[in-house]
Amino acid sequence: MNILVTGGAGFLGARLIEALLSPDAHDLLPPGGRIVSADLAACPIIDPRVESRTGDIADPAFLASLIDADTHLIYHLAAIVSGQAEADFDLGLRINFDATRALLEHCRQAGRAPRFIFASSLAVFGGPLPEQVPESLSPLPQSSYGAQKAMAELLINDYSRKGFVDARVCRLPTISVRPGKPNAAASSFASGILREPLAGQASNCPVPLDTRLWLSSPGTVIANLIHAARLEAEALGQRRTLNLPGISVRVSEMLDSLARVGGEAARQRVSHEPDERIQRIVCSWPGDFDITRSRELGFTADQDFDAVIRAHQRDMSR
Ligand SMILES: NC(=O)c1ccc[n+]([C@@H]2O[C@H](COP(=O)([O-])OP(=O)(O)OC[C@H]3O[C@@H](n4cnc5c(N)ncnc54)[C@H](O)[C@@H]3O)[C@@H](O)[C@H]2O)c1
Repeated sequence: MNILVTGGAGFLGARLIEALLSPDAHDLLPPGGRIVSADLAACPIIDPRVESRTGDIADPAFLASLIDADTHLIYHLAAIVSGQAEADFDLGLRINFDATRALLEHCRQAGRAPRFIFASSLAVFGGPLPEQVPESLSPLPQSSYGAQKAMAELLINDYSRKGFVDARVCRLPTISVRPGKPNAAASSFASGILREPLAGQASNCPVPLDTRLWLSSPGTVIANLIHAARLEAEALGQRRTLNLPGISVRVSEMLDSLARVGGEAARQRVSHEPDERIQRIVCSWPGDFDITRSRELGFTADQDFDAVIRAHQRDMSR
């Protein structure tokens, strides 16, 4: 019983592998099972049950080596993130769509219909949006990243309908607070305006302060990705795409939380210089969702944004 995690060296991938190794996840990784991490970079989790394979998932030979008859669960997380996919159209299309299609086709050829969990994004939505996105809203992406994720979603749903995979498409909220360095995601500031000031450094907010964001802490997203693997197909029926729960928070409210939890001095380290390129992408995304269905299916959200910052502080002090 093997698990494949593409993007296993990434921010979420490495955390997911850690969670899958914990005794709480023995139903997903039974004794004797192993996790294959497939990424351009080596997986940072050192454990005898983890096999780190480095390579390009768009390379057919590498992809073919990743799935065998024992692969019962696949987490497909490898991706080119939003800012980079917008800047390099060909790269985004090749990794976010072409490689996803090739991975699905390998699953089909292997003939075992593995559970297939895809990290999609709220970036599939855009254009004129209601205050709160209902379950029934169709994607209308306003970025290449969003379009590539939306195309992959449709294809995954069809492979699932045909019985080639048993899919759960999880549309992730924006993750905050992401530790480490800023990345090429347009939403990178949603972590930077907290992480840097809490570490005594300056940070800039590139979007209007009344921008509403749909957010989740890393820990909650990982718990939800694990939960997705446990859901029975019958609970989902034909609707394999899920808007994962998040909390709807204005940037000004995030900064209020920063002042409350991290102190007024931390809040004062955040400047406000608009960046048109980032605004164009981030302000096209929805800031609130109706999550009745995902709640009923047992997915969870953070309590509030103060709790998200405190969770980050706990992570940093470990
Ligand atoms: N972090 C967020 O806020 C967020 C929000 C919504 C959706 N997502 C999705 O979640 C997934 C994981 O995001 P993350 O934040 O961990 O990103 P990340 O950039 O930290 O991880 C992505 C990983 O994919 C790997 N990768 C990229 N191209 C590859 C290739 N050609 N072959 C093999 N590996 C390749 C990278 O090396 C990296 O380790 C992505 O699919 C992303 O689109 C993330």
